[in-house]
Amino acid sequence: MTAEYKVHGPVAVITLANPPVNGLGLSTRQGIVDGLNRANDDAAVTSIVITGAGGAFSGGADIKEFGTDKSLQEPNLHSVIAAVENSPKPVVAAIHSVCMGGGLELALGCHYRVAAPGCSVALPEVKLGILPGAGGTQRLPRVLGVEAALNMIVSGEAIKSEMIGMLPGQKLFDKLVASPEELAAEALAFAQSVADVRPLPLVRNLPCKHPQGDAYFQFARNMVKGMSKNFPAPAKCVDAVEAATKRKFADGLLFERELFINLMWTPESRSLRHLFLAERAASKIPDVPSDTPKRDIKAVAVIGAGTMGGGIAMNFLNAGIPVKMLEMKQEALDRGIATIQKNYEAQVKKGKLKQDKYEQRMALLSTTLSYDDLKDADLVIEAVFEEIGVKEAVFKELDRVMKPGAILASNTSTLDVNKIANFTKRPQDVVGLHFFSPANVMKLLEVVRGDATAKDVLATVMAIAKKIKKTAVVSGVCDGFIGNRMIEQYGRQGGFLLDEGCTPEQVDKAMEKFGMAMGPFRMGDLAGNDIGWAIRKRRYTEKPDMKYSKTADLLCEKGRFGQKTGAGWYDYVPGKRDAIPNAEVVKMIEDHRASLGITPRKISDEEIVQRLVFALVNEAAYILEEGIANKASDIDVVYIFGYGFPVYRGGPLNYADEVGLFNVVQAMNRFAKNPLDDAAFWKPAPLLAKLAAEGKTFN
Ligand code: 3HC
Ligand code: NAI
Repeated sequence: MTAEYKVHGPVAVITLANPPVNGLGLSTRQGIVDGLNRANDDAAVTSIVITGAGGAFSGGADIKEFGTDKSLQEPNLHSVIAAVENSPKPVVAAIHSVCMGGGLELALGCHYRVAAPGCSVALPEVKLGILPGAGGTQRLPRVLGVEAALNMIVSGEAIKSEMIGMLPGQKLFDKLVASPEELAAEALAFAQSVADVRPLPLVRNLPCKHPQGDAYFQFARNMVKGMSKNFPAPAKCVDAVEAATKRKFADGLLFERELFINLMWTPESRSLRHLFLAERAASKIPDVPSDTPKRDIKAVAVIGAGTMGGGIAMNFLNAGIPVKMLEMKQEALDRGIATIQKNYEAQVKKGKLKQDKYEQRMALLSTTLSYDDLKDADLVIEAVFEEIGVKEAVFKELDRVMKPGAILASNTSTLDVNKIANFTKRPQDVVGLHFFSPANVMKLLEVVRGDATAKDVLATVMAIAKKIKKTAVVSGVCDGFIGNRMIEQYGRQGGFLLDEGCTPEQVDKAMEKFGMAMGPFRMGDLAGNDIGWAIRKRRYTEKPDMKYSKTADLLCEKGRFGQKTGAGWYDYVPGKRDAIPNAEVVKMIEDHRASLGITPRKISDEEIVQRLVFALVNEAAYILEEGIANKASDIDVVYIFGYGFPVYRGGPLNYADEVGLFNVVQAMNRFAKNPLDDAAFWKPAPLLAKLAAEGKTFN
């Protein structure tokens, strides 16, 4: 049982004990009900306290149980809360640290609530694509007022206990104790003080009205419209809270339950729940146990103060870690520092950063032209030109000066990390840290594990990634690692689509309608079309049999590299990011098509989306098979956090699972018959073919 029962004098204490956050899984729910029965059967007990062990009262329903039989088994959360409400002896929730979702709903079912300060209180279900399903939408408005409750439910954001609940007119907490250390004793005393109160107070009996009624809910619906374009849950939250104001409590509860169950079955909710677990699973590496000792990272060095070096440095400064930047020339250092200053100043101007914080961060930054000044750094990240000779020179210098045990990282996006590691006499200390541009903004960090990379180096960089608020995913060594290796196939399909009859605008619009933050051509313009061009030129000699559209090369030959040259697939006005279609580019595509003797055909948005996304999926299947990615969900995390894949689709492999792998393979077989496409590529990767044949999924 994952709930403990103890008696302290006349008070029975039920302690939820289901680490890490006391999720209300079956065994915990059973433990609560058993504890209530024991306490009510014991004549010596006059009141009951429910609290949580460790770092949480409760983080809510056990997300890992969703979709399994256990989530349906009695006692379900409704039955548990009913048992609490119906307890003849008073039940007091002693709330601390984290009180969320079903945990808050359980507390709201208790007769009284005593809270510690600093507790994060939330109904975050909307972030999982659902709504509170155990009375939260009906009870929270009764203790907080309709508007405050609806705000919490629709945003899912946590509020600290000391900020809410004790304001005039609000009844969320009956007592807020002075400090978390006093909670246990104060809750026991409070429980004894209410032992004889009858009838026992129930939140369900409190009134629930909004003075402006219909007008307020109309306003609320308008407010959530924008945020809920692709997410069904927020609008349903409004419906449920409105029901709390209009229906009898029991009817409201039934209505909430119906909405909850319907939302639970939506692909959006499945995707969001998948991502919640996927993001957390990404930090776990199968053969690196969580208790692997970590190296101390107190000081960081960055080599190269260019586009990436500056952004990388900012991440550490933001986390309060000192950074020393090295460049070849003082001018380059000055330019790099000026860019960092400019970025911070823009944040100060927008009110996102306080002046004193900005100054503190800049004070942590120092510069040097000499490698000897780096010897005290615990982690050095190289972000110099993408040329193997330059990397070799840098890593040889680092090997010479860095103290033993320092971690030597490269931000290379295409070079072989094993080769770089072998430029040193300590390949075990070398790792790839592939940040995405802009490095101070993008959440994804690909951690590239070389053949020799030590386990404690991996454990350390995964921990430091969390500290600088990045979502890290481990990739093996291969050309492009996980993300860029897949995007190459996506880009290749984009090229074929132009040759067959599409315009860049049509392809981009179809992908943006699908939910991508940016279509492939707008993305090319942002990243710089010259990067893809350089890779293709390499491929033409490395893989002469690989089929490519030549259209993008023609564009680059015109110097249209994208936003940085003011012109790419689209035109750009200085200072603006709007992509303006260009007639000459369209003509260039048409002329090239004609030169190949292709009669353009009308291509549906559905075909565009399928070809681009399934190209990602097929390459991902190879990546999984080769062990470059540890698990399918890691690939989804890469695409969500690094490539603007729509959150509500849960990543390319989750999307493929939703479509059904049988259907994905069927579509690939169709694409393989298109003479203008690449039949060889569309042969499903063996892993994909196997899963599809067995009726299985990636995740
Ligand atoms: N169920 C199961 N596991 C949970 C969980 C939950 N509700 N909430 C967190 N966890 C697990 C995580 O998966 C992770 O596990 P791991 O160590 O094995 O990877 C561990 O707890 C720690 O989580 P975080 O890494 O997120 O730790 P933080 O300290 O940063 O955050 C937290 C803790 C604030 C509780 C955060 O995890 C969180 O926001 N959790 C989600 C809470 C939530 O959405 N609750 C609502 C659930 S739905 C519900 O209650 C339905 C009801 O209305 C019927
Ligand atoms: P950049 O050209 O903007 O900056 C490189 C900097 O390194 C320059 O300031 C240069 O003076 C300095 N430098 C060159 N040789 C040096 C040396 N021997 N010692 C010290 N400093 C030296 O390049 P960018 O874009 O910042 O790229 C750096 C690295 O990051 C490359 O390996 C690149 O592949 C990788 N990368 C780039 C991304 C991008 O979008 N720009 C994304 C992810 C990785």
